[in-house]
Amino acid sequence: MKFDIITIFPNIIEEYINSGIVRIAQEKGFVEINIHDLRKWTDDIHKTVDDTPYGGGPGMVMKIEPIYKALKELKTADSIVCITTPKGEELKQSKVKELSKNKDAHYIVICGRYEGVDQRVHDNLVDYEFSIGEYILSGGELAALVLVDSVTRLLPGVLGNKKSLESESFDNEDELDFPQYTKPEEFNGWKVPEVLLSGHHKNIEDWREEQRV
Ligand code: ADE
Repeated sequence: MKFDIITIFPNIIEEYINSGIVRIAQEKGFVEINIHDLRKWTDDIHKTVDDTPYGGGPGMVMKIEPIYKALKELKTADSIVCITTPKGEELKQSKVKELSKNKDAHYIVICGRYEGVDQRVHDNLVDYEFSIGEYILSGGELAALVLVDSVTRLLPGVLGNKKSLESESFDNEDELDFPQYTKPEEFNGWKVPEVLLSGHHKNIEDWREEQRV
């Protein structure tokens, strides 16, 4: 799988994708993630990526030209162009699963800004508009990372322990994962449930099942 992320804050993306599971997934060759500074596709001295809105109003709007040029360079026949926007379809685990199914997929992810992106980008250049929830972020970088992380960790082989995927929250629509505890057995007077210390596998299974509501 390949992700090309287009952003005006490459450093934010860089830090995250080079940590934890996502870094390991890249090292093992399950996923290739490239970060692109949108300013690379500007040709003025100020590297302008946004401008004032037609019709007036506060804030700046991201320009279409640099995005168009970026896509012209990065896109192939099979690419899926995604954009972050609070107006998009809210990302759910079921969609994440669907996106992770094609291990050869190529996703281009454009990080929007909260003031907006020229609507002509949305109308003509994008296949999938997604939101990560009903709140407004100042930029799409966090949303892009949510997509990349949630899809990457589902790629076969990325999480060594398949069991940990199978028992996970949201896999089974509205079931939640059971509570987990680790050492010490007691902290500040707060105890680990007795059943988990019992070594009785059946009882533990039953207790966990009970909790997974
Ligand atoms: N940009 C601003 N807010 C966002 C959100 N909630 N999801 C995706 N992109 C966004």
